[in-house]
Amino acid sequence: MSFPIHRKRRLRVSEPMRRLVRETRLEPSQFILPLFTCPGEGVRREIGSMPGNFQLSIDELVKECESARALGIGGVILFGIPEKKDEFASEAYSDEGITQRAVRALKHSVQGLLVITDVCNCEYTSHGHCGKIVDGDVDNDATLAWLAEAAVSHARAGADIVAPSDMMDGRVAAIRHSLDAHGFSKTPILSYAAKYASVFYGPFREAAESTPQFGDRRSYQMDPANAREAIDEMDLDLEEGADMLMVKPAMPYLDVIREARSRYHVPIGAYQVSGEFSMIVAAAQKGWLDLDRAMLESLTSIRRAGADFMLTYFAKDAAKALA
Ligand code: PBG
Repeated sequence: MSFPIHRKRRLRVSEPMRRLVRETRLEPSQFILPLFTCPGEGVRREIGSMPGNFQLSIDELVKECESARALGIGGVILFGIPEKKDEFASEAYSDEGITQRAVRALKHSVQGLLVITDVCNCEYTSHGHCGKIVDGDVDNDATLAWLAEAAVSHARAGADIVAPSDMMDGRVAAIRHSLDAHGFSKTPILSYAAKYASVFYGPFREAAESTPQFGDRRSYQMDPANAREAIDEMDLDLEEGADMLMVKPAMPYLDVIREARSRYHVPIGAYQVSGEFSMIVAAAQKGWLDLDRAMLESLTSIRRAGADFMLTYFAKDAAKALA
């Protein structure tokens, strides 16, 4: 059974033929656009390391979400940049925090777009770590209370999905318990289950002003070398009540996405993070890569590996390119 009977090129002959036999498709509903919201009015401040992405005041955020919705994008995930940071991440779980106010504004004025909130403390702490510091390290159990309170305040503001990204042990259970106790048993949890201590978050930290002031995040985020451990993390998060799992970053961890897809029946998301985005944009700016093709090929590869949906800074551009 071989050449010349078989010629694989027959089914590659034209775009209509390739379209017919295409195994992996992209559509805008699979894209979640990450957005950064900040205090003020009429603020639309471009993030140097992430061209085409902005810190947006809430009024501008509403406009951005209207255009995302018009493009058919599945949803947005919000990151808040608070007025003031402190040791206790106070704004992370205050009903008057920047994220909570942004969610209320969006739910009031934009229909038909999922609003996901990132549940973490690093944008809100003066030291830039994801939780409460005790003896120079992030204290796991003390941080759980902050996270649970933040998730409840997001749900109260109207968030459709809460997404904890802190990598504390037991946070999914703590959040599920608090949501249920406060009447939010219907709010799903998308857990950043396998989140690696990755260099590719660099540009995000400029965007969210969340660079740790000392040390790094390796005592809570995963070692890039470990894949079996990712399965443990995902097992635990499912046991604790996660409705959906996420792998982050995406392209450097396609093996982990594939493994998650074959093991679990729950929806799997993947986060094409800031560094993955900025690398492609920078290469395109230098004329070394075609931007649209690199964008679509990278998203296709993440989906082919098994992700049901992708968090991506390309969400709007990819939706336009697919139209
Ligand atoms: C918050 C958080 C981070 C990202 C998403 N949520 C930063 C980090 O863990 O340092 C990174 C997203 C990106 O790089 O696009 N903990």
